[in-house]
Amino acid sequence: MFQKASFVISNSNPGNCPKPDRAEIAFIGRSNVGKSSLINMLVNQKGLAKTSQKPGKTQPINHFMVNDKWYLVDLPGYGFAKVNLKVKQGWESMITTYLTKRENICGVFVLIDSRLEPQQIDLEFLLWCGTQQVPTALVFTKADKQSKSKTDQNIQKFLNKTKEIFEEEPDYFVTSAEAGTGKEELTKFIEELITEYQAG
Ligand code: GTP
Ligand code: MG
Repeated sequence: MFQKASFVISNSNPGNCPKPDRAEIAFIGRSNVGKSSLINMLVNQKGLAKTSQKPGKTQPINHFMVNDKWYLVDLPGYGFAKVNLKVKQGWESMITTYLTKRENICGVFVLIDSRLEPQQIDLEFLLWCGTQQVPTALVFTKADKQSKSKTDQNIQKFLNKTKEIFEEEPDYFVTSAEAGTGKEELTKFIEELITEYQAG
């Protein structure tokens, strides 16, 4: 369980992130996919990571400390249509630098909206993570929004697409921040990643 979580720092310059002296888990995905909401569900604090109905809410790299033991990171979303090229390039350089240079990352969760058919932008991002050897797992969000069979159908389609990217099926979780779905499984997985990191 993640009983204790607090905000540490926000940065648009990855070089200013806290000292990489403990395990770090990051959440990324399309703008509005539910990253901040999922984080709040995991740490049992509604307002810790700022959420919004308007895409593009989370802007910089946000570090939170959990259980005094590891860093949880909320990242700004990609694929937000209403940004200009300069903003987009700024995002890309910030995120690629963070994901490739941050030495204490032990897991990056890529969030996928379970309501949608496979989206090219998600597949492209996953492909990039694969080529950079970023340790990714998938989280399908907003499962409360439709029937289980529809969710399963979309997930299966997405997993079929990832076969072109990964040799093995990626680890994946089905969640709803609204209903608390998937919380236990995801918590357990994160705890395992952290234990593994600490064992060294
Ligand atoms: P950015 O920071 O803009 O990239 O967005 P984000 O990915 O952090 O999304 P955020 O958590 O702010 O959620 C976006 C919207 O989706 C909000 O209105 C949330 O209430 C809603 N939402 C997030 N997760 C769920 C979910 O599991 N179920 C339902 N029904 N709504 C959700
Ligand atoms: Mg957010």
